[in-house]
Amino acid sequence: MIIYEAVAPANIALLKYWGRLSLRPRRAATPSLSVTLSRSVSVTRVEAIPEQEATIKQGGHQAKQVTMFFPCADLSPNLYDRISYLPHDSGMTNQVDSQFLAKIAQQVQFIRRTLGGDSAVSVVTENNFPVGVGLASSASGFAALTVATAACFWGVAEFSDFDQPSIHKLAMMAKEGSGSAGRSLFGGFVSWRSSQNGAKGSIAQEFPAHHMPLADTIFVFSQQPKKVSSSDGHQLAQTSQLYQLRVQRSESRFIRMRQALLTQDFTHLGELMEQDAIDMHGICLTSTPPVSYLTEDSLKFMNWLVSQRNTGQFEAYFTVDAGPNVHVISKVEDQSDIINRVLEVFQVESVIVDRIGSGPRLQRITN
Ligand code: PMV
Repeated sequence: MIIYEAVAPANIALLKYWGRLSLRPRRAATPSLSVTLSRSVSVTRVEAIPEQEATIKQGGHQAKQVTMFFPCADLSPNLYDRISYLPHDSGMTNQVDSQFLAKIAQQVQFIRRTLGGDSAVSVVTENNFPVGVGLASSASGFAALTVATAACFWGVAEFSDFDQPSIHKLAMMAKEGSGSAGRSLFGGFVSWRSSQNGAKGSIAQEFPAHHMPLADTIFVFSQQPKKVSSSDGHQLAQTSQLYQLRVQRSESRFIRMRQALLTQDFTHLGELMEQDAIDMHGICLTSTPPVSYLTEDSLKFMNWLVSQRNTGQFEAYFTVDAGPNVHVISKVEDQSDIINRVLEVFQVESVIVDRIGSGPRLQRITN
């Protein structure tokens, strides 16, 4: 049997995708710009299942692994894809498991239809960090799934065997699973352009990882799954009076952020990044109904970080996705000092120490 194993990193948006023009295909209302991480990853293994085996709903159960079977509606309703998830922790409910696995199955069918694949597949996926808590697990998860499934249908052995047009195609497919996943197909600093006024909404690397070696330290205050998914949050964004204002500003903010990156101006980049995170959460809080991803802990921490910066203790900037956990972006050489200072003042559930990374990896394993 040949297994295609993809490792794809999470990414953190410095300029956030929040609000969309359409769900299928996913078209973003604003441009976004992210940093691909190096250590927070999803690992996904995909293999084709021979037809006789794909008709049987059994097999492969292991301790801790959750497996479900989904009919391959695009091939034949008598064939089943086998989707398994290895939870990072045991806190997921059955309901979350089945919804989560159904989304994976839907993405597999979409990729198979798009690429003309002709077999059912077995998928096993896992993350090395918690899911559903605003830590971009869907970005790394759908990126890894898309790379491994496409590699399986195309017979591609290594990530470097994909040419640039193919990687772009994979990014456009990955974003149909989760918008931010498209950006995890590239390393370094990655943009996803808006689809406003009929624009194509392409995804591309703006600068490689070594252009500006940044650190991302994630202070995890809560591992409770978020109550409002980011998908629902995108939908609600339009109900906020602040939304159109952010859409109008987003293009110029993107250009200024790109310029700050080009000139390696960390201070300007950091200021723009914080403003954008605050704008996004402002939209959430003023949506109808309001959505509050930030908690008292996150707000206290963000205020503290700003005061440390203003008093010259260190230069670091926060950003927060759809969850309470705060990403601190700093220069790599300041990272351990920042962690020590934070831990003197705050009690956190965990700290994820990450860096900017160079994108997905792939290997073909023959059993
Ligand atoms: O990819 P989604 O649909 O989960 O949306 C991601 C939204 C944010 O993480 C908050 C922002 C972003 O650009 O990644």
